[in-house]
Amino acid sequence: MPTRDFTISQVDWEQSRPLLRAIRESVFITEQGVPKALEWDDQDAAALHVLATDSDGNGIGTGRVTPAGQIGRMAVVAEWRNRGVGSALLTQLLRAAHADGRKPLFLNAQKAAIAFYLRHGFHSVGEEFMEAGIAHQRMEQDPRRTRA
Ligand SMILES: CC(C)(COP(=O)(O)OP(=O)(O)OC[C@H]1O[C@@H](n2cnc3c(N)ncnc32)[C@H](O)[C@@H]1OP(=O)(O)O)[C@@H](O)C(=O)NCCC(=O)NCCS
Repeated sequence: MPTRDFTISQVDWEQSRPLLRAIRESVFITEQGVPKALEWDDQDAAALHVLATDSDGNGIGTGRVTPAGQIGRMAVVAEWRNRGVGSALLTQLLRAAHADGRKPLFLNAQKAAIAFYLRHGFHSVGEEFMEAGIAHQRMEQDPRRTRA
């Protein structure tokens, strides 16, 4: 069992690309079957990225926010789930986005993750839709939230 210690940091895409790509490859492409062509888009270079690492420096989770304010690519490797890594990543992303003036924030949540985002101050908008064969729901940050 790995220890429960983990660290969250905001990282530069070019510098941390191998770690971030490995996490997303494992979670989205291998585990969830998302096509590679959908996973790798043109948003990463301009997005803000966060990375979670374990005490040995291994990448265990990531997420990003695009210049348009879209939170996405939230991924925690399976063996680290339900230990607060995803919440810590999202909190750091919200802080970084606000500090950078990226708002209002929105995201397309996988249906199974809606409750997770509700707890972080997002609400559902519109109808459920399919993307990469997975049911999604658009969610937007509550306007009264001016800070993360
Ligand atoms: C979504 C995700 C990043 C959350 O990371 P995490 O480290 O497990 O998050 P936390 O430990 O902070 O919070 C866990 C909570 O989120 C819920 N949750 C979030 N997404 C979930 C999902 N896809 N399936 C099941 N439960 C999910 C858990 O049930 C748990 O709720 P609880 O506290 O009421 O039991 C992680 O589950 C993951 O990588 N999932 C696969 C990829 C994915 O679905 N990404 C989201 C795209 S919108």
